[in-house]
Amino acid sequence: MTEFSHRVEQVSISGIREVFEAAGEDAINLGLGQPDFPTPDHAREAAIEAIEAGEAGAYTSNKGTESLREAIAHRYDADQGLDVYPEHVVATAGGSEALHIALEAHVDPGQEVVFPDPGFVSYDALTRLAGGDPTPVPLREDLTMDPTTVEDAITEDTAAFVVNSPANPTGAVQSPDDIREFARIADEHDVLCLSDEVYEHIVFEGEHRSPLEFARTDNVVVVGACSKTYSMTGWRLGWVTGSNRRIERMLRVHQYGQACATAASQHAAEAALTGPQDAVDEMVAAFEERRDVLLDGLADIGLECPTPHGAFYAMPKVPAGFVDEVIDRGVIVVPGDAFGEHGEGYARISYAVDVETLKAALEIMGDAAEAVR
Ligand SMILES: Cc1ncc(COP(=O)(O)O)c(C=O)c1O
Repeated sequence: MTEFSHRVEQVSISGIREVFEAAGEDAINLGLGQPDFPTPDHAREAAIEAIEAGEAGAYTSNKGTESLREAIAHRYDADQGLDVYPEHVVATAGGSEALHIALEAHVDPGQEVVFPDPGFVSYDALTRLAGGDPTPVPLREDLTMDPTTVEDAITEDTAAFVVNSPANPTGAVQSPDDIREFARIADEHDVLCLSDEVYEHIVFEGEHRSPLEFARTDNVVVVGACSKTYSMTGWRLGWVTGSNRRIERMLRVHQYGQACATAASQHAAEAALTGPQDAVDEMVAAFEERRDVLLDGLADIGLECPTPHGAFYAMPKVPAGFVDEVIDRGVIVVPGDAFGEHGEGYARISYAVDVETLKAALEIMGDAAEAVR
């Protein structure tokens, strides 16, 4: 009889989906991990033009088109002053595939991967699919990840640790000092730092910094994507960058698992990356305004919430029974323990909805909090 692999039996469908299924059809959805803005016109038009010109019907090079990888490299230079060479980039099917090929290429069965808890659900699942041992580490009170905690968790069997700033599900942004420390840990312990920077442009206070800037070895691999920055989640376009030898290994996984990222999406992404960036600025300003509305509302309800400095999530501490009560009353939020054991007692609220909707949801959350206290 055909059996299933041990690796696949180690993972289950994300708890987030269960929450969506439990909610009614006209519920207010504060559970979504995607911006509620349209993809910029110039990106959409570039894809349409490429399709009409017959330029999107064939495989591209496995790594992605030269011009897309140049556009990605250009953004690292323009935004962070980092030298990334186009040949050191692989365009992928979103940040998700980038994380997958990075872990497949670096983790052996039985090796550990250290990542934040609460943290993005894929770190645990992709580690298991690579045959590795997930090693979640708790966060500081402000929901940032302490480099000391990471360093303490590293053993001889550690293959990699994941840094995610700005972070899902917390909205936390690591300080430049923390980022420098992560780079030092990668260098000194000779472990891979997998830096998931898909929210790099959505920062309200402080600035986005990458461990790539500080590392003296090639032990940092960075994952990026158009998904959040340009509201392009459906286009499935991300990338991974690293040194020659690392890119060559990740490319082996990508080549056989994916061949290349979707050609039309590569055209759209190139236009998004090289075109005017005002849509990004406008979206970030809108998110910041909503973040403030949400924080004020949560404070009025009496829910303690570390101030998120980026992404579009907030993670307040909530009383027992709060999440179920809120969902019963027609607002979807995600229970914190969907993101790891240490997420228990928190809820993730995504504010990818307009201010009016957010205010209506806050009212319902206030009633729910009162009902369960
Ligand atoms: C932290 C983080 N990394 C990676 C991803 C994957 O993004 P993509 O849609 O580009 O695959 C997400 C999506 O929610 C995310 O939150």
